Amino acid sequence: MARLNPVFVCTSCGGESLKWQGQCPACGEWNSLEERRASGIRAAPAAAAVSLAPGAVLGGGGERLPSGQAELDRVLRGGIVPGSVILLGGDPGIGKSTLLLQVAAHVAATRPVIYASGEESVAQVGLRAQRLSVAAAGLGVVSETDCQAVLTLVAARQAALLVIDSIQTLQSGSVAAGAGAVTQLRECTAELVRFAKSGGAAIVIVGHVTKEGAIAGPKLLEHLVDTVLYFETEAGSRYRIVRATKNRFGAVNELGFFAMTGTGLKEVKNPAAIFLARAPQPAAGSIVTVTREGGRPLLIELQALVDRMRFGAPRRIAQGLDANRLAMLLAVINRHAGVALQEHDVFVNVVGGIQITETATDLPVVIALASSLKNVALPAQLVAFGELGLTGEVRPVPYGDERLREAQVQGFRVALVPRDNAPRKPPAGLTVHAVSTVAEALAAAFTRAPGGASAE
Ligand code: TYD
Ligand code: MG
Repeated sequence: MARLNPVFVCTSCGGESLKWQGQCPACGEWNSLEERRASGIRAAPAAAAVSLAPGAVLGGGGERLPSGQAELDRVLRGGIVPGSVILLGGDPGIGKSTLLLQVAAHVAATRPVIYASGEESVAQVGLRAQRLSVAAAGLGVVSETDCQAVLTLVAARQAALLVIDSIQTLQSGSVAAGAGAVTQLRECTAELVRFAKSGGAAIVIVGHVTKEGAIAGPKLLEHLVDTVLYFETEAGSRYRIVRATKNRFGAVNELGFFAMTGTGLKEVKNPAAIFLARAPQPAAGSIVTVTREGGRPLLIELQALVDRMRFGAPRRIAQGLDANRLAMLLAVINRHAGVALQEHDVFVNVVGGIQITETATDLPVVIALASSLKNVALPAQLVAFGELGLTGEVRPVPYGDERLREAQVQGFRVALVPRDNAPRKPPAGLTVHAVSTVAEALAAAFTRAPGGASAE
């Protein structure tokens, strides 16, 4: 059993090979393989298993730490789990440091917290804290890039929370590569995870997403951590959305909404209509839908533009929606509603920078496409939602009643919905048109005064 095979590890990509080679077989880098003795092969003492019998005392756990931001706690499903590791990704400048300084200061009111900033000096973090009017004696700020040094400090202070801003600036002495290299990102994150799991502290790691680094950055670390959060926004918007893409402690279908203000990020308590800032005159190609992205009904404006193709192959561009889904919808309306766009460039945009993953936008997208093609504006007080099938049928979506209620609360008067979503008794003041096929839906959307004849 006591074999001690040498293993050669690439300092640039972390790939392993059993013999030394001049070029790493994984990433093609030259002279990057270093010998490392595989340590785990020796006969190790047996690990102790813990029985999960009902009522067994499992230790760990403990109270979740409220972050002080209800929207963030909502995404985390009830606050920060002690000993857990959270990765917060997002574009540079989106507000990661701002949010985490606010959270660190809040937690520091009751428990010791360390904010390790490799990007900014202590003075800069201090100035920001003043600007945000957050000050807490229990919050220790350190400008340090050495992973071990940070963890030693956290252990000495017995901190309950550690913020690493950012993982791209952290370095571990056990790896030769420079900060930000793939092996450094992996090794530092692994060290942080080991520390957290041995009862150290909850750790929040900031990871920048760069244009080319979407893969080389936070994505590489997702499997190591417990929870992965991403910041989303649209250029120029003050709203910020926090989405969980992974959470070992709860479901991931909630979104948290924030607004960037002069004094930091403020949570948006009722986000239903924050993305609705439409032109006073209805424009062709624009429609409002009620989505349930993120566990709450949200009114969102969808915009479509179809334009005669200039040259080559027609373009299909989808912002905030799945481009493959758009291609499918184009085929469905071509075949089942006689709307032919093979000779057109097609652009679809979700206003507000939110990514929509549910299928309830199918019906409003095709109505917006038809509206742009005909150059006929839809009534401003119309909302639509519903899924489309390949045979042109309009399928029901979950939470139909809730969507209709929110549309009514926000002042919409007409709703175009799948037949199976039509309520027996619509909310007062809302006329509901139930449709079964895409052809029916387009006919209903473009008949004059669709408030007149209710289908139900
Ligand atoms: P920051 O948290 O530094 O972004 P990140 O850490 O994700 O790179 O946020 C920087 C932006 O936020 C910057 O453009 C200024 C703006 N901001 C405000 O609008 N108000 C504030 O109170 C603060 C602290 C920053
Ligand atoms: Mg920052």
